[in-house]
Amino acid sequence: MGVSRPPLRVLVAGSGAREHALAWACRRGGDQVEIICAPGNGGTAGFATNVPVAADDPAGMVRAAREHDVALVIVGPDAALAAGVADACMAAGIAVFGPTAAAARIESSKTFAKLVMDRAGIPTARWRAGTVAQRHALLGFVEELEGRCVVKADGLALGKGVLVCDDVSAARAAIGACIDEQRFGSAGDTVLVEERLEGPEVSVLALTDSRRLRLFPAARDYKRIGDGDTGPNTGGMGAVTPPAGVDDALLARVEGDVLRPCIDTLAAAGTPFSGCLYAGLMLTADGPRVLEFNARFGDPETQVLLPVLGEDVLALLLDCAHGDLAAGRVARRAQSSAVGVVLAAAGYPASPRRGDLIEGLEGLGPSSAADGDVLAFHAGTRRHPDGTLRTEGGRVVTLVARGERTEEAREHVYGAVGRISFAGMQHRTDIGRGQDAGSNIAGNDSTATASNTTG
Ligand code: AMP
Ligand code: GLY
Repeated sequence: MGVSRPPLRVLVAGSGAREHALAWACRRGGDQVEIICAPGNGGTAGFATNVPVAADDPAGMVRAAREHDVALVIVGPDAALAAGVADACMAAGIAVFGPTAAAARIESSKTFAKLVMDRAGIPTARWRAGTVAQRHALLGFVEELEGRCVVKADGLALGKGVLVCDDVSAARAAIGACIDEQRFGSAGDTVLVEERLEGPEVSVLALTDSRRLRLFPAARDYKRIGDGDTGPNTGGMGAVTPPAGVDDALLARVEGDVLRPCIDTLAAAGTPFSGCLYAGLMLTADGPRVLEFNARFGDPETQVLLPVLGEDVLALLLDCAHGDLAAGRVARRAQSSAVGVVLAAAGYPASPRRGDLIEGLEGLGPSSAADGDVLAFHAGTRRHPDGTLRTEGGRVVTLVARGERTEEAREHVYGAVGRISFAGMQHRTDIGRGQDAGSNIAGNDSTATASNTTG
């Protein structure tokens, strides 16, 4: 007693709403935790030290970590992992949350992910991969699927390198767009053709130290720009937790059939995975099928998951980094539903406009974390020299509210959406709608029967 301990310093790499949420969640330890963000954003500037280091600059990250003597580096974005930020930290003896670039190939190469899935027996869509030289084999597979397929660029393409096709001519055009027109740059040099699956989608995220798994509650993100899942794909327009149609039995099945074989296969291949393993699943009539793995926290799923957790996130991330994670489920708090709505800039996703004045955002959380608060996690915001807050990127901010039920969280968050404005502001009005009805929610001992909704 009376002896004051030095604060624990943590460096968060990235500049999105996901990183704002991670920084906020780590700060729940109060003044005992100091956050440094590289590079951070207009929201993290309010409570953390933003340093001008790009998230995907390994050497810069090691320098910043040493300069601030941090106990942990948390890597947010996929590009930073693929660039080897975690490898550089490990080599420098700095504790890091996030996998090596070799293990992160589970996200950065879709072909690698499919090979791991096949080797591990993980349920997924049938597939073929090839370059321009294998065009005929790819088109043969398209014919076999009668054109109902999905064409994917192999590499990272900001979530946009996926073309869902209805018929052979659309699939032919999609393959041409990847390998001839190079619409996704070198990410599309290798292209995958997959069988097209049907069903609602859910995201299951788990922490892992490469041996043990600790699952988060399930979440659902809303990828299309428009209500009712219309219009182009985006980085994500909102999220809900828990989604309808996911119960404890399903989570246990995903752990046993998907997450466990994935980390065991990666470890056996000499590329152990430590960090957040994210399975993007489709709940088909034949059971859950993996659409993709991500090697990191999801955006915007993280913005709804972290606020409903009933335990210290920073302690869990440190346990992962130190190879000392306890297996099981991450505990939830009483108000365990959350809805997050993304406000996007004019012109998003094609060509987002910058510099629009944002009104109504000042004074919204997450600086204070009382239950009733609406949390505002910033992404594309910038404080201009004249003191105004202006848009700076496609997805401007994620607003999140909690509730005992999703409908309550939904009402609350949309109330806040109505108080914020900027020229050309875009958002969906259906995030979280219908997610309570008749659902059998994981961790909830409700006896209601399960029902699927198409989120
Ligand atoms: P991915 O980046 O691989 O998760 O794909 C992005 C989106 O494309 C997914 O969220 C799905 O909506 C859709 N998608 C991907 N793969 C398939 C598939 N095999 N069948 C149907 N839809 C898919
Ligand atoms: N929410 C989708 C992603 O983070 O990739």
